[in-house]
Amino acid sequence: MIRIYNDINLQNRNSFGVVESARELVEFESGDDLREYFTEHKPEQWYVLGGGNNTLFTQRYDGVLFTPVCSERTVLVDDGEYVEIRVEAAHDWDALVEWSVNEGLWGIENLSLIPSSVGAAPVQNIGAYGAEVKDAITTVEYFDTRTLQVVRLTNTECHFGYRESVFKHQLKGVAIILAVEFKLHRTPTPNLGYGDVVKEVEARGGATLINIREAICAIRSFKLPDPKVMGNAGSFFKNPIVQRSVAEQLLSIYPDMPHYAVSGDADSVKLAAGWLIDRAGLKGYRSGRVGVHDRQALVLVNHGGATGGEVIELANYVCARVKAMFGVAITPEVNIL
Ligand code: EPU
Repeated sequence: MIRIYNDINLQNRNSFGVVESARELVEFESGDDLREYFTEHKPEQWYVLGGGNNTLFTQRYDGVLFTPVCSERTVLVDDGEYVEIRVEAAHDWDALVEWSVNEGLWGIENLSLIPSSVGAAPVQNIGAYGAEVKDAITTVEYFDTRTLQVVRLTNTECHFGYRESVFKHQLKGVAIILAVEFKLHRTPTPNLGYGDVVKEVEARGGATLINIREAICAIRSFKLPDPKVMGNAGSFFKNPIVQRSVAEQLLSIYPDMPHYAVSGDADSVKLAAGWLIDRAGLKGYRSGRVGVHDRQALVLVNHGGATGGEVIELANYVCARVKAMFGVAITPEVNIL
């Protein structure tokens, strides 16, 4: 069933909590719903708004927003060692992680507490603490707005990369994700190699699923603001990938600068945008109703009542300061409308 809202206020539908509106918002349950809508209407401008956790509205949206509302979870196969599940797009991401941990299923525990809907997770290949959702996804099912057909993509066809997928490129403006299928395992595969994770897990008594989830929830809750309390969209910027020579030159000036190898590309190095912003002196910086979070410089926050335009102004300022100090361009991870 479709539900259409006109001139809708989006304040409670975006985690930044900015006060903006949209001309039309369509809640849908299935591909059939979307086929019906797209047969009758030909929206020129549209966008999928899931949980609104990674989108910043900077003005009234003059097109149509599509929001999935179906959140079913179905076990497709359980062979004892592995389980394949199908989850509809509106399912809350962390509720899925919690379910998998309680079921003793390994694969997505490091992605605990990431604010997202299941449908949004493959778009930017959500990742944290050395894990990426792509490693658990088998299939993504979407509605193709050109052919009005439901299409199933294999993991390879999704062209996943760091915060990247086909849905941000060839299928941008084409695909509306309906469901995601995952393969999770009963054989323990703890992935503790990242930062403080091992220490926090050991402090809880070792690498069980529940301990890993609790450790990661504790680390995230300490560093990242709860969007229900302070509007934000997690990391606002992507970690920049630069030429090896650029990284080497910066390391000669800042020997403590965090830097990471880029798999499959020996000429490139990934830097930590949070560190660059922090070193530029902007951690905790505040300008009116917006600011840089005081515990994680990669996160921009709405201190209350801010508009999207104010957040963009701050983002531009942060980019300019980082560029001036390090010569490195950082770009938003968040979708800006
Ligand atoms: N750092 C600072 N100051 C800061 C923030 C970071 O010096 O204010 C340094 C840290 O000390 C560390 C390095 O920068 O040496 C990297 O920081 P961190 O490990 O906190 O991770 P990140 O690169 O800042 C990424 C993801 C996060 C994810 C964490 C943990 C991106 C854009 N962000 O952040 O994802 O939770 O790793 O895995 O890749 C998100 O996407 O919304 C998100 C929160």
